[in-house]
Amino acid sequence: MKIRIDGRYMLLPVSEHACKKKLILRDDAGKICVELDTRLSANSDFVLPYDMRDYIGKVMELNLEPEADFAPDFADETDDALLYAETWRPLAHFTSARGWINDPNGFVFYEGWYHLFFQHNPADTCWGNMHWGHAVSRDLCHWTQCEEALFPDETGTMFSGSAVVDDKNLTGLQENDHAPLLLYYTAAGNTNLMSREAGYTQRMAYSVDGGKTFKKYPGARVKEFAPGNRDPKIIWCEEIGCYVMAIYLCGSEFMLLHSDNLLDWTPVQRITLEGENECPDFYPLECEGRRYWVLMGAHDRYIVGHIEGRLFVPDQTIRPLHSGKSYAAQSCFGLADGRRVRFGWNRSGVSGVPFNCSMTTPQEMTLKKIDGALCLCAYPCAEFEVLRGEGVTGRDEVRLPGRAHDIVMTIPTDGRREIALFGLTMTLKNGRLSCQDSAISVSGRDGQAALRIVQDVHAVEVYAGQGESTMLIAHLSDALLKYVSCPGAEITVWPIDSIWQERAEG
Ligand code: FRU
Repeated sequence: MKIRIDGRYMLLPVSEHACKKKLILRDDAGKICVELDTRLSANSDFVLPYDMRDYIGKVMELNLEPEADFAPDFADETDDALLYAETWRPLAHFTSARGWINDPNGFVFYEGWYHLFFQHNPADTCWGNMHWGHAVSRDLCHWTQCEEALFPDETGTMFSGSAVVDDKNLTGLQENDHAPLLLYYTAAGNTNLMSREAGYTQRMAYSVDGGKTFKKYPGARVKEFAPGNRDPKIIWCEEIGCYVMAIYLCGSEFMLLHSDNLLDWTPVQRITLEGENECPDFYPLECEGRRYWVLMGAHDRYIVGHIEGRLFVPDQTIRPLHSGKSYAAQSCFGLADGRRVRFGWNRSGVSGVPFNCSMTTPQEMTLKKIDGALCLCAYPCAEFEVLRGEGVTGRDEVRLPGRAHDIVMTIPTDGRREIALFGLTMTLKNGRLSCQDSAISVSGRDGQAALRIVQDVHAVEVYAGQGESTMLIAHLSDALLKYVSCPGAEITVWPIDSIWQERAEG
């Protein structure tokens, strides 16, 4: 069927209960321009507007597989009236306005703004059709979503990667006062019809207008070393004097590559991270006056080491930081104050709403020596406290005044203690805090343990001590059980404001 693209957005009526269909739009020459797997339905739960900015006014051939009776409507604007007011919209965790999200991508501080890109399916609330979504923030807490940054093409769908500010114009791409902003991504070939027979290559897109729009740089920056290799994370390494890219190969193998010009990359080292896969992060941290490098995978298992010559050399064996729903965390490129700040993907899902999944609380990473070992810690960034309302302190039990809360507790470590929170129960016994199928070590001092808990409508994040171990539990808060309790505990609770408040007001 021929259709005319009559507006910027193609409106997709979607239901979580419908069968998946493939929607294909071809141009005059028969080339596939748009290809979306989506659960189109005549009884839709919500409408997802798909950005057709490159095709407005064109006549295209529409096909559905399997064939179905559907002709899309178009609109020039999205209808945002009901957005961000949904009962299950997380308040303190970043979500996309619509569609599924997974890994944080291209997290960068650039020209006074935090840019957060993310794995995005704009055409459904489950994984698929990977695009890069984009949002910006001045303060790391309040976010505004921008237009889609990267669309699938004939090289593949747009899998995870990272950003670099090319402030020395090593790529030669600079055209004006803006340093080029580079996005390195994996083109996941053969994940759709458009990219049949292509492999997984690491590629680059760039912006010369201050991070508003992105063009794809021609050719692969890194060829395929192993089927499915992916997730380039790039950082400047002072010790070696070059940029280092970490990628995931396969099994539990990762690779480090070097570059002087941010365009050509030389493989240098293969490293096994036992029990790990996907989305490496690689960064330096200081501890007791010494500089170390941390290499970790998507499950937050990490190796602390140092640079010797041109190589990363482990100083200790792999250790766990997290248990639970956080995955594929990525730290920020270009933070001027020397802090290492990151977001993880919060896999706690919500259904029946036009969005799914979220990011974790922004976390600051530090390295501490505990019992002789170098211990990586993750703790909510200081900025996060701007979201706090008026605090309430109590012993044993405190009523929860809002829908999401920042909670600090001191708990006696003797015996068995139960923490009840909005209907969720966590148990502390013998230095282990357990909940559902997650458990972390909690060490006490003078018979007391410190916990920081960030509770949102869909999830509960727990930080033990200074964040030596963390846990993220999926839990829909039960509004009839609006209290936090733990016998013998000192508890302070702050309600948290919505990170979307500014957007709603502005
Ligand atoms: C991790 C991951 C990455 C990949 C992306 C695809 O969650 O599987 O390895 O790049 O998600 O969405």
